[in-house]
Amino acid sequence: MSSTSHVPATTPDPQDELLDALRTLVPDAFPDGDLDVGALLQTLGATEAARPSFSFTWPGIEQARADARIPTTATLSPDPSASLNWDDTRDVLIEGDNLQVLKLLKNGYSGQAKLIYIDPPYNTGETFTYNDDYSVPESEYLRATGQLDEQGNATTSKIENAGRKHAPWLTMMFPRLAVARHLLRRDGVILVSIDNNEVHHLRLLLDAVFGAANFIDTMTWRGARKGDGKLTAGGQDYILVYARDKEYLKANDVRWREDKPGLEPIYAKVAELQAEYAGDWEAATKAMRAWYRSLPEEDPSRAQEHYERIDENGVWFSDNISSPNYRENLIYDWKGYKPPENGWRYEKATMQRLHDEGRLIYPADKSKRVQIKSYLHMHEQWAPASVFYKDRRSASKALKELMGSKVFDNPKNTDVLARLFHSMTGDGDLIVDFFAGSGSTGHAVWEQNPEDGKTRHWLLVQVPEKPDEDEQSGKAAIKAGYKTIFEITAERLRRAAALLQPSGEGAPKLGFRLFRSRPTNLIIEAPIVVTEGMTGDDYVQTALANVQGEPVIAGADPLAVSWEVALKATDTQLDAKVTEHQLDGVTVYEFTAADAAAASAGRLLISMDKFDLATADALLLTDDDTLILRGDKVDDSTTLTLAPRLQSKLVLLERVPREVSL
Ligand SMILES: C[S@@+](CC[C@H](N)C(=O)[O-])C[C@H]1O[C@@H](n2cnc3c(N)ncnc32)[C@H](O)[C@@H]1O
Repeated sequence: MSSTSHVPATTPDPQDELLDALRTLVPDAFPDGDLDVGALLQTLGATEAARPSFSFTWPGIEQARADARIPTTATLSPDPSASLNWDDTRDVLIEGDNLQVLKLLKNGYSGQAKLIYIDPPYNTGETFTYNDDYSVPESEYLRATGQLDEQGNATTSKIENAGRKHAPWLTMMFPRLAVARHLLRRDGVILVSIDNNEVHHLRLLLDAVFGAANFIDTMTWRGARKGDGKLTAGGQDYILVYARDKEYLKANDVRWREDKPGLEPIYAKVAELQAEYAGDWEAATKAMRAWYRSLPEEDPSRAQEHYERIDENGVWFSDNISSPNYRENLIYDWKGYKPPENGWRYEKATMQRLHDEGRLIYPADKSKRVQIKSYLHMHEQWAPASVFYKDRRSASKALKELMGSKVFDNPKNTDVLARLFHSMTGDGDLIVDFFAGSGSTGHAVWEQNPEDGKTRHWLLVQVPEKPDEDEQSGKAAIKAGYKTIFEITAERLRRAAALLQPSGEGAPKLGFRLFRSRPTNLIIEAPIVVTEGMTGDDYVQTALANVQGEPVIAGADPLAVSWEVALKATDTQLDAKVTEHQLDGVTVYEFTAADAAAASAGRLLISMDKFDLATADALLLTDDDTLILRGDKVDDSTTLTLAPRLQSKLVLLERVPREVSL
């Protein structure tokens, strides 16, 4: 049921519109809901920061902001031989540092992901050691927090350096979240797993990146109690949930729904009691109550224990039948009973139908309220729980069985992830996880798709870090021949595909395209350094040599270079279909979007070979096509003929961009 809409009395306030647009563009300038001019200036890189009204900061925030801004020269290189069913899949697994990879995805995937799930390193150690580049030396931390002066003398007798543990973690997380935000669709959502070590900081960090107004919930995932808990039992962790644009979800009346767990055993028990008590519904109800009480506290069926009354139609509880809001037309007497204050929940015709179906319960005392039988089979879905129980050890056990030994610690349970994906995403949606670990997110999507008949896709990123030899799992991984965690991710997904591959004609072929983050194939032009004795003529000669020089590293694979230019110069996605055309010794790659709806009118054609007008004719080039060519392999007459036709859709790969006047 959607709420009523109304015609606004005035045209929109342009200032509010501007603020709204700014809030969408720069949410971290609204840390507390209102515009923080200082934060805005900082985001823009302006130096004169105004005094912030409220802000979350840590030593390293400047570095974090810079990390988010600095462009990367890296590329993503396809590796079809390490992929699984390259031609038939839209799922993508990327080896690399996620910050670089996220930056490379920005062109093709801006506003494309429906859901991002991440489970970053929890920062449980004394210092955060995932990437040494992010650690802050103690002296630097103390100086940044005003505890040491410039000469290195203590400014306070009580030195605090506990924050040193958190600062590097925050510095690592901020740019990744800031770049990842661009990938979300307007109705998208991000879910971040975390434990007590950083949950408080992460909430503030997500407020800063996504805007506090987009906070949805902190889900609590109860696992097994910690055996060694001295004060409290612990054992829980959290999933922070933020919308890309919560207002948009509200305006579109978005509802996340999942099937209530634990219904099957309830229905089985009800059927048994209906047969056993045949019409003695009071006795059946008593037995049903006793059965609920016999279940362990965390049994999912217990969440439905208010459905305890049994009749021939099923199990029900007696629900109130008053309207949630006052409605004039719902105020009427019904069979001698007065209406509730706000009126009945239904109009007269519906009340009559419910009466005829025997759904209404009439108390003997007419001053009491009429109730309605609310049957469980009519309410089998609900919003995903904010607190839920799932023993995480079962995930470790399942992964160990799949991999043959325990090669990875603390994987997430695929059934928990699958349930979340089920309620928050739908057909065709893209799910991204850029701290992939063992690849549970991909596995969970493959588990869920056949369950609800949807086709979701995934994109996972995992850094090729070495297994930790100090851990049992690391030793087992090395023994099993895995050189990196990424190799574990890929192998887990290969095994999951074999396990889950649906049979039957037309069943989707499970698989993934594997890309690796690699240094660029392009020659990045360094500025000419003027040295002593260099004449103006020398300078011009060097500049000319640069212009004419090859723009691509010698020996680079043309297909990999074509992918690189496609990713950097267009909005090509990694599931694009690539067709190779061979035209008189000239290779031309045609990139076609996998999602037909996203395909533009023209083709994207890329060639790294010598290219002339004859090749253009053989390709049946149209004015809608985009053509990317190496500047050093195309002569001026070809360029001057094609440029007026294709305009900005003729893209030249050159060391130093030439002006082509049309
Ligand atoms: C807590 S684990 C994720 C576990 C995963 N949810 C699962 O179920 O298996 C975090 C993962 O992020 C990876 N990681 C850490 N820093 C990364 C980075 N900069 N880029 C990509 N992956 C990274 C780690 O190697 C680790 O595998």
